[in-house]
Amino acid sequence: NKTIQIAIDGPAGAGKSTIAKIVAEQLGFTYIDTGAMYRAITYKALQQNVSLADEAALAELLKLSTIELQPSENGQLVFLDGENVSDVIRTNDVTSSVSQVAAHGAIREQMVSAQQQLAAAGGVVMDGRDIATHVLPQAELKVFMSATVEERARRRFIDNEKRGIDSTMESLIEDIALRDKLDSEREVSPLVQADDAIYLDTTTLTIDEAALEILRLAKERM
Ligand code: C5P
Repeated sequence: NKTIQIAIDGPAGAGKSTIAKIVAEQLGFTYIDTGAMYRAITYKALQQNVSLADEAALAELLKLSTIELQPSENGQLVFLDGENVSDVIRTNDVTSSVSQVAAHGAIREQMVSAQQQLAAAGGVVMDGRDIATHVLPQAELKVFMSATVEERARRRFIDNEKRGIDSTMESLIEDIALRDKLDSEREVSPLVQADDAIYLDTTTLTIDEAALEILRLAKERM
């Protein structure tokens, strides 16, 4: 068995991180949640009142920051300048601002090179929006995961309930649709399915079914 790179892309709430974590654990690979990195710098920008439109200031802020991902029992912990920000980067404030920050080329450049370094070590499952198209274009397995916006909102609703975050289905559908639009229509590496990616619609799949399908595809390539 050899180690491979698995790239999982798709819109918000398609189940990427949940499924990527399971796949990584089953294969003994490293899981890397790239969205968490964009969330961490967005959190810091909000904290420091840096304008989300100021690309140069954001890029400078990112240069002066350390973002670390640490494997943990339930997936991954995120540290920003040594502080555990795993929970605060999931708040509505960060979620509704992150796409603005992630649209800047100067931010993406730094993120992509950091992510490529993280992936260099060996077997890796990385999820995000531009993994197959920009971060790991040579990945042995590329999956584009999606689901209907209603189903994705329903999952986020249940997820939020567990985290103690208040939300309504209506506002979640709106937020997800807006984030999809911003991520898909931005100029720099927009969310798009890579030509050689396999499309996986998870609308009617359970988490285990989706994970098994990716594991099957991975094993074919190992
Ligand atoms: O995956 P998650 O929903 O946590 O990602 C948060 C946001 O980060 C996305 O909506 C997108 O704007 C940005 N992102 C990105 N490229 C990635 C991962 C996330 O632009 N590879």
